[in-house]
Amino acid sequence: MEFLKEELFSLKQHGLYRHLNTMDNSQASRTMVNGKECILLSSNNYLGLTEHPELKAAAGEAVSLWGTGAGGSRLITGNFRLHEELEETIAHFKNTEAAIVFNTGYMANIGTITALTGQEDIIFSDELNHASIIDGCRLSQAKTMIYPHKKTGALEELLQQFRGYRRLLIVTDGVFSMDGDLAPLPRLVKLAEKYNALLMVDDAHATGVLGCRGAGSAEHFGLDGKIPIQMGTLSKAIGSAGGYVAGSYDLIDYLRNKARSFIFSTALPPSVIAAALAAFRVLRKNPQIRKQLYMNAQYLRSGLKQMGFTIAAEESPVIPVLIGDANKTVQMAQQLFSLGVFAPGIRPPTVPPGTSRVRVTVMATHTRDDLDKALAAFKQAGQTLGVIY
Ligand SMILES: Cc1ncc(COP(=O)(O)O)c(C=O)c1O
Repeated sequence: MEFLKEELFSLKQHGLYRHLNTMDNSQASRTMVNGKECILLSSNNYLGLTEHPELKAAAGEAVSLWGTGAGGSRLITGNFRLHEELEETIAHFKNTEAAIVFNTGYMANIGTITALTGQEDIIFSDELNHASIIDGCRLSQAKTMIYPHKKTGALEELLQQFRGYRRLLIVTDGVFSMDGDLAPLPRLVKLAEKYNALLMVDDAHATGVLGCRGAGSAEHFGLDGKIPIQMGTLSKAIGSAGGYVAGSYDLIDYLRNKARSFIFSTALPPSVIAAALAAFRVLRKNPQIRKQLYMNAQYLRSGLKQMGFTIAAEESPVIPVLIGDANKTVQMAQQLFSLGVFAPGIRPPTVPPGTSRVRVTVMATHTRDDLDKALAAFKQAGQTLGVIY
């Protein structure tokens, strides 16, 4: 198996080798990574809910009441009352008729896309969509047309050209995970209506974050009832794990019957479901947490911009600090780490070549002191490496 060594060597040469960092503590704003105390500036735990006492208590209680594992798939023996309660809660939160919970957001995307489309169908996918959407498209065997990022004119040309397929599916991230910008949903809704296409939005980074209640992109754009397939995760702002799809009764019933990643996998354990349920309660009771998240994002973003960093987008708590070169991005992340800030570099294939970046995310739980220390570290690292002057 000599090829393994060769491939790994080549990855290292191109600055694309990946290794695991070890978290020695929780996803708190200050934590221990690889044995070193640092400010965590890259977690998707946007609202800090993994640390919330109500979520922890709910998870602990669920273990004592329901045990540690689900013991079977949802359709066999693993469907607890808690799963159903969570699905009802999500449907209510998303203002849809029903919802279905998958074990991960990744599984929600591949399960949904493959259930909805096949060889006779066509998918129109934004070029910066998440890997789980890309993998869903590949697995579905549908023809897949990639349209340039957010270019709805180019998308419309494709829709016109390929309208003869059995089913047309437009799929997009709501908040793009590596860029933090938003999909042009109002225009996508119009195009979907005009060309009789299905529209699917991945709200992994919008759930709990965007919209007046944190319900996601549809709420943010005032498009309630206009996006038939709304996917999201419970693993990011919701502070637990799992993915979901919200939509009509028929859609959810269909997915329960057809989505292979739902059918053929053991259900999520009760503690995970109970934590997610508690998160929705906290979100309802405490809108201030989301306000704090936005204030923190605004503070950090403007500080970085003032220093001369290029920030790719300004619409969400994802703050991509563009570096460009993959090797330099790795060096930047290393420097930041040595200065006590954990924000790993993101390189191809996660992002297109030449657009490597340090992907910064803020949390509602970062203090002003955390953010000031992080800004000072960025300044020092950026100047040392010649990213800013
Ligand atoms: C846009 C997007 N979709 C889907 C996923 C997958 O979600 P999960 O981590 O819950 O599998 C992620 C994150 O990993 C994501 O960023």
